[in-house]
Amino acid sequence: MDAEAGSDARAPVRMEDIVSLCARRGFVFQSGEIYGGINGFWDYGPLGVELKNNLKAFWWQRVVRERGDVVGLDSAIITHPRTWEASGHVEHFTDPMVDCRACKRRFRADQLADAGPCPAREGTSEHDLTPPRQFNLMLRTQIGASEDASATAWLRAETCGSIFTDFRRLREVARQKVPFGIAQIGKAFRNEINPRNFTFRSREFEQAELEFFCHPDATGEWFERWRDERVRFHRDLGFGDDVLRVRPHDEKELAHYCRNAVDLEFRFPFGWQEIEGIHDRGTWDLERHGEYSGKDLSVTDEETKERFVPAVVETSVGMDRTALALLCNGYAEETLEGGETRTVLRLAPVVAPIKAAVLPLSKKLAEPAQRLAAELRRHWNVFYDESGNIGRRYRRQDEVGTPFCVTWDFDSESDQQVTVRERDGMTQERIPASRLAEWLRERLDGSTGHSTTRD
Ligand code: GAP
Repeated sequence: MDAEAGSDARAPVRMEDIVSLCARRGFVFQSGEIYGGINGFWDYGPLGVELKNNLKAFWWQRVVRERGDVVGLDSAIITHPRTWEASGHVEHFTDPMVDCRACKRRFRADQLADAGPCPAREGTSEHDLTPPRQFNLMLRTQIGASEDASATAWLRAETCGSIFTDFRRLREVARQKVPFGIAQIGKAFRNEINPRNFTFRSREFEQAELEFFCHPDATGEWFERWRDERVRFHRDLGFGDDVLRVRPHDEKELAHYCRNAVDLEFRFPFGWQEIEGIHDRGTWDLERHGEYSGKDLSVTDEETKERFVPAVVETSVGMDRTALALLCNGYAEETLEGGETRTVLRLAPVVAPIKAAVLPLSKKLAEPAQRLAAELRRHWNVFYDESGNIGRRYRRQDEVGTPFCVTWDFDSESDQQVTVRERDGMTQERIPASRLAEWLRERLDGSTGHSTTRD
């Protein structure tokens, strides 16, 4: 088998390499490609959907399943329009927008540095801008046949709205007492003025949100606990100090509902950017929904008999942004001994789209190798590949982050052993085929990433 060795130096990642890998291997590509694409919308191909599903499952495991004090929800994307009036979105969820009268393009007034020169003006490259106007980011739709205002509804701009409106029912059915949390993963929609940086700022994206309800006096404590817990999550995805930081908001930045907030920021090739927000929302949400619905959303402390409206600590993370961060963090081009370059995606096994690839050394060995792959597929997403030389097959798996390649060779026929080659160190180990599933389980299940450092 090929002996491989390479340098471990990690050069800075370029966005174009990530975009190109994603298109070439079908992780993520523009939606509506055959019609020229639609700005701000993305489709996840076979590897992308596995990556994102694994990420969502890992989040759900950590935030819901491993705890006794958080329950799950999967609510409708379109909910009662009053939800968004109560939350302040109809009134406040806006960005300042300007139009160029010459080239007709539209920009965010606070991001004009990115606008570039105007292609449509003679004698100057400056845009001919209108004064800023507030532009609501919520996507509006119409329900039923009527077209009057009463039929207007909104695609949710964040997933948490229904967590608040369902709070009373969920607390009862789940037999939970405050403090406890409700979690949801789902699509959110924002009519971003300038979608950009690949999937980073999209118009349709997925959020994983936790709303943790507690006594208003306890938000400080829960805020810190959840902040630390969420940092642990990202560390386990392999994000080291060099790419992940906690940035507290200053007062001017705080959203209208927020008393305290930190962003968890990732160092993308285009700079430090938020991937998760942790917010002390106080009693804003339940008070507003109580007021707008006329329902009492307060609870009674059984010991003290105090009646109070619970406050909320929220953790809100973008699945698409985190998936992009995983791709950026994992991507490396290495020079191997002999001068060959390999592209490798060092994904934490827990999120890797393919956990193992089974590669027969020759097409003549296809039958036992396929049997082995079928057996492993009962547990994990396993890829089978018999075409091309073994070195090239390794490279194809390295590039998509497959932690282990299993080779069935001519000796395997007699000794019933396989060679397992590990992605990062490219080390190889010979193990009995009968022990393979157990060997992989020890290394895959619950296996998170080690934080790596990039220059
Ligand atoms: N409920 C609070 C909330 O929605 P946010 O900071 O507006 O807070 C939370 O959004 C997360 O959702 C962000 O940290 C980001 O990861 C993701 N997100 C927000 N807008 C996005 C967009 N246009 N495209 C992709 N992800 C986005």
